[in-house]
Amino acid sequence: MTAASFVVVANRLPVDGDPDGGWRRSPGGLVTALEPVMHSTEGAWVGWPGKPDIEVDPFDFEGTRLIPVSLSAEDIELYYEGFSNDTIWPLYHDVIAAPRYSRPLWEAYVRVNRRFAEAAATAADEGGTVWVQDYQLQLVPAMLREARPDLTIGYFHHIPFPAYGLYSQLPWRRQVLEGLLGADVIGFQRVADAGNFARAVRRLFHYETKASGIRVPQPDGSTRLALARAFPISIDAAAYIELAGRDDIKARAREIREGLGNPAQVLLGVDRLDYTKGIGHRLKAFGELLAEGRLSVEDVTLVQVASPSRERVETYAHLRDEIELTVGRTNGDFDTVGHTAIRYLHQAFPREEMVALFLAADVMLVTALRDGMNLVAKEYVASRTDNQGVLVLSEFAGAHDELSRALTVNPHDIEGLKDAIVRAIEMPPAEQRRRMRSLRRRVLDHDVKDWSRDFLDALAASRGAAS
Ligand code: G6P
Repeated sequence: MTAASFVVVANRLPVDGDPDGGWRRSPGGLVTALEPVMHSTEGAWVGWPGKPDIEVDPFDFEGTRLIPVSLSAEDIELYYEGFSNDTIWPLYHDVIAAPRYSRPLWEAYVRVNRRFAEAAATAADEGGTVWVQDYQLQLVPAMLREARPDLTIGYFHHIPFPAYGLYSQLPWRRQVLEGLLGADVIGFQRVADAGNFARAVRRLFHYETKASGIRVPQPDGSTRLALARAFPISIDAAAYIELAGRDDIKARAREIREGLGNPAQVLLGVDRLDYTKGIGHRLKAFGELLAEGRLSVEDVTLVQVASPSRERVETYAHLRDEIELTVGRTNGDFDTVGHTAIRYLHQAFPREEMVALFLAADVMLVTALRDGMNLVAKEYVASRTDNQGVLVLSEFAGAHDELSRALTVNPHDIEGLKDAIVRAIEMPPAEQRRRMRSLRRRVLDHDVKDWSRDFLDALAASRGAAS
């Protein structure tokens, strides 16, 4: 097997399926972002094939070498559902749900991170570049540096990094920082995330942290610079614009509205079914507006797409019950024979259908309690080539740093959220246009290719950085 000069390491491979039924490209944005780099270099991608206990040999897929890391049912339970999604995920999202601190989960996380690091160490060519992705693999950078000091190592953190007062709860807070500091460049979504990380490093290790980088002492007594900085991720804006221009998708958008009984206003929420997304707060605000008579089901329908996610984690199973109870009650109380209050879809849809929904929606509700970025906000904006539609955006989503011309909400403030929904519904077309134009300019000027280029340029520059 030839070694790769550029290796991506992520929890998931960029494909869905299995060796028997065949592989399909997964819809994620990261795949699109890295496509040009993967094709212009000898690229390889290390990741889990998405199902338990399947042993798959490395294979080529659309010009990229895929290197599967097999996970047993126990690895999935302890490393993926456990430490990644029941410890780190809730802790890093401001403890919206209680994190589970359990030694067997941590041990599995270390064990599985080592397997990913070993696979990457084997795949990478002498002097090559490795880009590690996200919170499931925070220990990989240091493990990789130890095995392969010749490599240039990047890490991008797709989710928030919490304030020290919360981060310090983690029993393994030192080990996780050590793991991340193995990278030459540690990328975050928001300036605030990079700041929280640097503060944690100062508090726990007393290393010097400057804009030029964090000085990390080396075993031989020298120091190495690790750059911690914000690189806000984005979307393939051109792909959304193209879909939004297609006649069949525009026709589908009209059909969606007709299917809802042609309400005057369609509100839309699109999320993974996750407690970080503030779906319950959104439904509560909407239900109260109906109860108070400020809105009527004859005029307004809320379409809520909640795609299934991490269903074997208990907190997620509870959330689903809670949301579905609320949807059932709200619809039971307010539906008429011809009109529904909430059209709830516990399903995932292809991108074409998503764009049709974006075009059908007068108001997009992104009310996350905490979110690394929230790409749905950017997808909605990119799709609105008509400069119409209103984005209601939580200040706790990373996207808010760039999309401040949206209607900003604090989703915990239910009265404020209700007022913002009404204001969005009543916003005159001229104001919609002014805001949407400025939002679109930002998303179009900084798409996902700019994101990966900025990160990889910083990583290339770090290679020669003085220590
Ligand atoms: C977030 C994370 C990703 C993750 C995705 C889907 O966006 O940042 O790393 O892949 O959620 O979650 P899942 O657990 O299904 O991979």
